[in-house]
Amino acid sequence: MTQYRIAVIAGDGIGPEVIREGKKVLEAVSERYNFELMWIEYPHGGEHYLRTGELMTEETLKELERCDAIYFGSIGDPRVKPGILEQGILLALRFYFDQYVNLRPVKLLEGVQSPLADKHAHDIDFLVVRENTEDFYVGMGGRVGGKAQAQQQKQQKQQKQEQELIRKLYQIKFRLDIETDADELAYQIGIITREGCERVMRFAFELARKTGRNRVASVDKANVLTEGYGLWREVFNEVAEHYPDIQTEFNFVDAMCMWMVKNPEWYQVVVAPNMFGDIITDLGAMIQGGLGLAPGANINPEPGGVSMFEPIHGSAPKYRGRDVANPVAAIWAGAMLLEDIGEKQASDSVLKAIEAVMREGKVKTRDLGGDARTSEVGDAIVNAIKLNA
Ligand code: NAD
Ligand code: IPM
Ligand code: MN
Repeated sequence: MTQYRIAVIAGDGIGPEVIREGKKVLEAVSERYNFELMWIEYPHGGEHYLRTGELMTEETLKELERCDAIYFGSIGDPRVKPGILEQGILLALRFYFDQYVNLRPVKLLEGVQSPLADKHAHDIDFLVVRENTEDFYVGMGGRVGGKAQAQQQKQQKQQKQEQELIRKLYQIKFRLDIETDADELAYQIGIITREGCERVMRFAFELARKTGRNRVASVDKANVLTEGYGLWREVFNEVAEHYPDIQTEFNFVDAMCMWMVKNPEWYQVVVAPNMFGDIITDLGAMIQGGLGLAPGANINPEPGGVSMFEPIHGSAPKYRGRDVANPVAAIWAGAMLLEDIGEKQASDSVLKAIEAVMREGKVKTRDLGGDARTSEVGDAIVNAIKLNA
C-alpha cells in the first residue's frame, strides 16, 4: 500500500479544529482508495512561540523536506505582535520551499448562497494564481526616526544611510526639505523579478490549458507602481506570446475588485502579484460564500518540490475552541493536497462529497446560516464519501 508522509501544522485559533476535520475526511477517503497517510504533527504557532520562543527552525525545515506535503491550519495569535508568527512561520515555509504559486480556486458551490444577487454556481468558477515569493512580502523595509530609532541604536549607522537615501528620494519627488531629526517614516520595498514573473505566469497559462479555460487576466497597478508592475506587465506580454490559443487582458487591481463583484463569470484564470493576490482572494472567498469555504495551495511545481495546503482564512481567534468554524475550506485544501500527491480519484471523491453536503444543505455551520458544529460538517462529508462509493 502506498504511504505518504504528511506534515501537519494545525497552528492557532480555529486551525486545530478545521484541520482535525480535514484529517478525518482524508483518513476516510484513504481507506476507500487504499493508501495510507502518516501524519507528522508539528506544534508551531502562537502558543508554542510564547512557551519556547521558537518560530520555524532550520531543523524543522529540514525534516519537512522529507515529507510528501504539508497540511497547514492557520496562524495568528492576539497575544503576539502582528507579523511575528505570520512571517516567522507561514512566510518562512512559503519562502524556504520556494512555493512560488499560490493557487486559490474561487468557486461557488451549489447549495451555497453568494452575497451577490442573482449569481449562481455556474457564474463563479475561476482560478486565482497568486505569485507567492516576491512583491511587498520580501520583508525589505525599515523605520527611520521616532521611537523606532531609539529602540534600534545598534543599527544607527545603517539607518543614517537609509535616512539620507529617503531624504534624497523625498526631495527629488516632492521637493521637500525634510529635517532629519524631526521626521519619522517607514518604508517597505516590493521586489519583482523577471524570473519570478515568468515562472508563475507560465504556470497560470499552463493551468488554463490543462483545465480547458481560454482566458488569463493579469492584475497589477502599473499605472502607479510603474517600476515593479511595469516589469510584471512586460513579462506577462512576453509569456502570453507563447500561448496564442489563450486570450489575455490586464486589470488594474482597483477595477478588478469592481469587476469581481459585477461580472465574476467573466474570469477564468487570474494571475496576480503577491499582495494584490492576497487581497482579491479574500474578496473571492466572500463571493463564493465566505472565508470558511475558500481553499489554497502553496505549490512548488518543480520536481521534488514540497507544497503546502491550507484554508486561506486565518485563525479567527473569536471562534477558537467553540466548534463553530466552517471546516470546508480546510477539507477542500485537503482535497488539493491529495491531487498533488497523485491521489486524483480520492481528491475528486472529497470534492464530490463536499458538494453533496452543501447541495443537500442540512449540515451547515453558522457562517452559512446553519447551526451545525465543525465536527458535524466533517462527519457529514465522511458519510457522503462512504455513500458515493
Ligand atoms: P481571519 O481569516 O482569521 O478571520 C476573519 C473573519 O472571517 C473571522 O472573524 C470570521 O468571521 C470569518 N472566518 C474566517 N474563517 C472562518 C471559518 N473557517 N469559519 C467561519 N468563519 C470564518 O482573518 P483576521 O481576523 O484578519 O486574522 C486573524 C489572524 O489570522 C491574524 O493574526 C492574521 O494575521 C492571521 N491570518 C493567518 C492566515 C494563515 O494562517 N494563512 C491567513 C489570514 C490571516
Ligand atoms: C493569507 C494570509 C497571509 C498572506 C498572511 C497571514 C501572511 O493573509 O494566506 O492569505 O498575506 O499571505
Ligand atoms: Mn490573506
